[in-house]
Amino acid sequence: MSIEIKELLDKIEDFFRYQEELNLPVFASESTSEKTKAKKLNTEFIDYYLKNIEEDFVKANSLSELDAMINQCQKCPLGKTRTKFVFGVGNPAADIVFVGEAPGADEDAQGEPFVGRAGKLLTETLKKIGLQREEVYICNILKCRPPNNRDPLPQEVEKCEPYLLKQLSLIKPRIIVALGRIAGNTLLRKNETLTNLRKNIYNYYDIPLFITYHPAAILRNMGLKTTFEEDLIKMKNYYDNLIQ
Ligand code: URA
Repeated sequence: MSIEIKELLDKIEDFFRYQEELNLPVFASESTSEKTKAKKLNTEFIDYYLKNIEEDFVKANSLSELDAMINQCQKCPLGKTRTKFVFGVGNPAADIVFVGEAPGADEDAQGEPFVGRAGKLLTETLKKIGLQREEVYICNILKCRPPNNRDPLPQEVEKCEPYLLKQLSLIKPRIIVALGRIAGNTLLRKNETLTNLRKNIYNYYDIPLFITYHPAAILRNMGLKTTFEEDLIKMKNYYDNLIQ
């Protein structure tokens, strides 16, 4: 088989997989894409999940109210070791939400996600693809820094992920972008390489989920910068199609 035909077949296979992941018919008509647009704005899957949690934070009516309700959290040992609780930052009605794994040292000190070198690279890359940091929302799965930046533990994720879900239920984004292998695998309960995770668009509580590099990985290997930018451009094109 020639290389061109193989590439074409791979692309067709990717297309079918995307449609399947998003529960979309293979050939979407205009009216279908209208329906899809509406579907992306509702968070009934998340709300159904939150309904079963008997805690006050699920009743928060705004992000600032939610922040005030949870920022003294001591549900896991990270509550004792954190400097600042890192709730999230950005547009409370953002269409695109970026999710990292957990705050690092700079974020722990300042109380804002992605403010260190990796965060600056993220902000610059967003600008490059036509998005301002202020127009998207940026947060993490864990709101407190794990000591020495170790990976989040399953029991920490179990306590903290409901906070992320409540944030998403208030923001109602059309797209989520997980930054890095750990964030992607944690949200999807998978254990895949980033190379594999990047191949698809997933579905997180009925919201399309893209997975790309963590900006810190780009700082370690600047050769990946173009691929990172290309991933974000793909996501942005998908978003532009969704809203047109
Ligand atoms: N890495 C993350 O995953 N999140 C941050 O907020 C900073 C670095």
